Amino acid sequence: MHVTLRQLSIFASAAKHASLTRAAEELHLTQPAISMQVKQLEDSVGMPLFTRNGKHIKLTEAGEEMNRYALAITRKVREIGQVMDDLKGLRRGTLRVGTTTTVGMFATRAVAAFYNRYPGVAVNLEVTNRRALLELLENREIDIVLMGYPPDDRNLDATSFLDNPLAVVAPYEHPLRDRKAVNLRELADEPFLLREPGSGTRTTIEGLMEAKNVSLKSALTMTSNEAIKQAVEAGLGIAIVSEHTIGLELEAKRLCKLPVRGFPVLRSWSVVHPADTRLSAAASAFKAMVLENPELLNTQSRPITRLAGNGAEATLADSDGESIDVPPATAPAAAGARPR
Ligand code: PGA
Repeated sequence: MHVTLRQLSIFASAAKHASLTRAAEELHLTQPAISMQVKQLEDSVGMPLFTRNGKHIKLTEAGEEMNRYALAITRKVREIGQVMDDLKGLRRGTLRVGTTTTVGMFATRAVAAFYNRYPGVAVNLEVTNRRALLELLENREIDIVLMGYPPDDRNLDATSFLDNPLAVVAPYEHPLRDRKAVNLRELADEPFLLREPGSGTRTTIEGLMEAKNVSLKSALTMTSNEAIKQAVEAGLGIAIVSEHTIGLELEAKRLCKLPVRGFPVLRSWSVVHPADTRLSAAASAFKAMVLENPELLNTQSRPITRLAGNGAEATLADSDGESIDVPPATAPAAAGARPR
């Protein structure tokens, strides 16, 4: 059976008015055009849908059945238009967003701001490490991600929105705390608490150590920044973490930053999505919101300057503000380190 939407809407109009002439008027068509479409529909189903008595038409039993379906289908078609309009106005839909574990510590503020602005849009927030996020993006299981600058070989669109300085943190009473400057090599004997393989923070640290030809003594590996901070505080070792994660601990003098040459290492966070897929209305609104209000994710009490350029460069500046030439961990580096 071959039935078109056009035939159904013409039939429904004729049934509503019990008149081919009135249907023609309503739909701005000629009466022969209406008659022809109804006839084709009757031919398709193999039964008359109207009985005809001069100008008057009346639904047959098959016509009554057809009318029920025609009304339901034309209503659904109108609904499609409505849903599309809603999506345009972001009155509904779903935001499928992912963040790295580190960004996830503050992402709720961005999600809350989005939710307040678009209360009809559901939000699915996936918080996991860099490697897992790249996989989710590749499988199109999420639409948009907040993370460190992504690798170049993935056909991703990335716009950096906030600096992410990495600092060496130690328990507050650490003997190197008050030194003017500490060389990276002096840390070789310190036990280090590291994030898990797949973490962007860890990948950056590994790239940096490789470039400087320093090997770290890894004490413990943990998947959580919170656990790392607590382990440092408990004296289990030192760590390199995003400064965004340690504001409170520094203020409370539970942790201190060690004045290591080359730190803070400046990375950046970016809004990332597949370059070859049209962004959903919700993801596109979220992207605009984060780029326009990076302070939503900025927990630093001091203002952070944005990186110039696309953020792919890892810039190192020593404690005197002098920049040091170290290959970025995110480039196909001379250092041989690639983010995963
Ligand atoms: P991750 O994040 O270490 O939590 O994977 C790194 C980043 O966002 O740069």
